[in-house]
Amino acid sequence: MEEKELKKKIILDCDPGMDDSMAIVMAVKSPALQVMAITTVNGNYPVDVTSANAQKVLELLGRTDIPVARGMAEPMFRDIPKDPFTHGKDGQAENFLPNPVTPLCEKHAVDLIIDVIKANPGEVYIVSTAPMSNIAMALKKAPEIKGMIAGIYAISGMFGLNAYAFANATGDTPQSEWNVYVDPEAASIVYNSGIDLVALGLDVATHFDVNLTEKDIERLRLSDKKEAHFLYNAIHFVNGRGFEAYCTVIDCMAVAYAIDETIVETFEAHVGVETKDGLTLGNTVVDYRHHHVWSHLPLVKIGKKADYSKFLNMLMELVLG
Ligand code: BDR
Ligand code: CA
Repeated sequence: MEEKELKKKIILDCDPGMDDSMAIVMAVKSPALQVMAITTVNGNYPVDVTSANAQKVLELLGRTDIPVARGMAEPMFRDIPKDPFTHGKDGQAENFLPNPVTPLCEKHAVDLIIDVIKANPGEVYIVSTAPMSNIAMALKKAPEIKGMIAGIYAISGMFGLNAYAFANATGDTPQSEWNVYVDPEAASIVYNSGIDLVALGLDVATHFDVNLTEKDIERLRLSDKKEAHFLYNAIHFVNGRGFEAYCTVIDCMAVAYAIDETIVETFEAHVGVETKDGLTLGNTVVDYRHHHVWSHLPLVKIGKKADYSKFLNMLMELVLG
């Protein structure tokens, strides 16, 4: 059997973003994954920037064989909101990687998602580290792919499981997560699609019991790998702005989960996405009740507890390896 056949096939739908950039590094370098496509979307930055940034990372890794398709330039029904967080002038923590020379895929990201899924029915997982505009649009355009997607692993939402989820909320309403907040209608379509969805929210992705140590950071500095220097610079960039290292690797949690599902413990619950404007726009509301639960809300697997030392070991091995 070919080695490729043993790998888990993924499409990485992203909006690089420094942490999306590191998620690309992990996915591409992992021997457990076969990255079928990278699709980009408006999110952390406009889609032209996120597309170029994805290409820059692939060029840095020497993996221009992986197609990058540019996707939705705006949320499905809304204007582009302003990100309260900044990933720097270049959207990559001011690493200022060289401009890409590889052409983008001729297909729109939505079409590439549809085509890859149809060509590999039941085999492809979507790793979503961005607003879900491309994925929702693909489901609208070709609803028949719903039953063909193996699953979606997403950095999405926050579920009120610990104080970090609230303290580090990334959307621009007090309790929302950025990817859902940007395009809540798209998130709602995906959550309600019936596709197996694992939502790794801020409860696990921005709450690090274990963090990168000074020794780890020094190993990154001393490495001869460009991607290690990228991460090293990104950590300094966020530290300089009063944030912790976790900001540079939030999206990596979804790739780590794709590689090894034991990294995050999950539980299943009914979840609704708030799409009405105002205080709670973009909130992912969990019905935790024992009685009178709203069973019409979709069942979603929610990230509850992560094994941070396993996650960080995997990250370091892949970045330095
Ligand atoms: C998400 O928001 C973005 O800034 C990050 O790239 C990540 O996907 C976390 O809420
Ligand atoms: Ca992202």
